[in-house]
Amino acid sequence: MKTLDMLLLDCSPRRDYSTSRHLSQQLLPALSAHCGREVRVTRRNLGTEPLPAITAEYAESLLLPVAEARERFGEALAVSDELIRELEQADLLWISTPVYNFTLPAVLKNWIDLVVRRDVTFASTAKGKIGLLPDRPTFVAVTSGGAMFRDPPVQPDFFRPYLSAALGVIGIRDIRFTHATDLAFAEVPQSAVEAQAAQWLRDDALV
Ligand SMILES: Cc1cc2nc3c(=O)[nH]c(=O)nc-3n(C[C@H](O)[C@H](O)[C@H](O)COP(=O)(O)O)c2cc1C
Repeated sequence: MKTLDMLLLDCSPRRDYSTSRHLSQQLLPALSAHCGREVRVTRRNLGTEPLPAITAEYAESLLLPVAEARERFGEALAVSDELIRELEQADLLWISTPVYNFTLPAVLKNWIDLVVRRDVTFASTAKGKIGLLPDRPTFVAVTSGGAMFRDPPVQPDFFRPYLSAALGVIGIRDIRFTHATDLAFAEVPQSAVEAQAAQWLRDDALV
């Protein structure tokens, strides 16, 4: 049976104690088991090895038709091209990330700014933007220090609506969010992550 290719975006800058990475580590084996197939992981360590910031050349290139943009700004598009190729090759996308100020960390926003490209990953039409990438199962393992994702809300959630809209623009709509929250109040955050991950797995909420 064909191996599944997963692109894993790891967005925490923390090394040994990242709670979002720990959450992903708790959940990923269950996903592989559920798929019943080997999952080959390509990692992008966005948190510890951030991508370059958007340049003037890259911003200019987005205003031009693709062929002209390539001709004039080919070099400035190289990182973006590589990230898009990586995403195109992935059967599954996994995003492991903390919440920062009610939304995504800047390193993940930077990745989005590099992969959302007119006439490459989305088309602009009179009816709005249409995604050009095939949809694929996307999992977001997200952690927060405070009480995110409560109903009724305790903190505003610009995280899930924003990430869903940004990925939706390029065609990715099959998105499942799994979170471990209130970690700032836990005596041992890693244990709190494990307990919340176990609950997600008991509820079968991952798949
Ligand atoms: C810059 C920054 C902003 C943060 N903003 C929020 C926030 O808005 N809400 C919240 O609940 N936690 C917030 N936190 C806490 C992190 O979400 C929490 O510590 C998370 O577990 C970190 O994940 P990591 O260990 O994988 O890096 C913030 C942390 C940082 C460093």
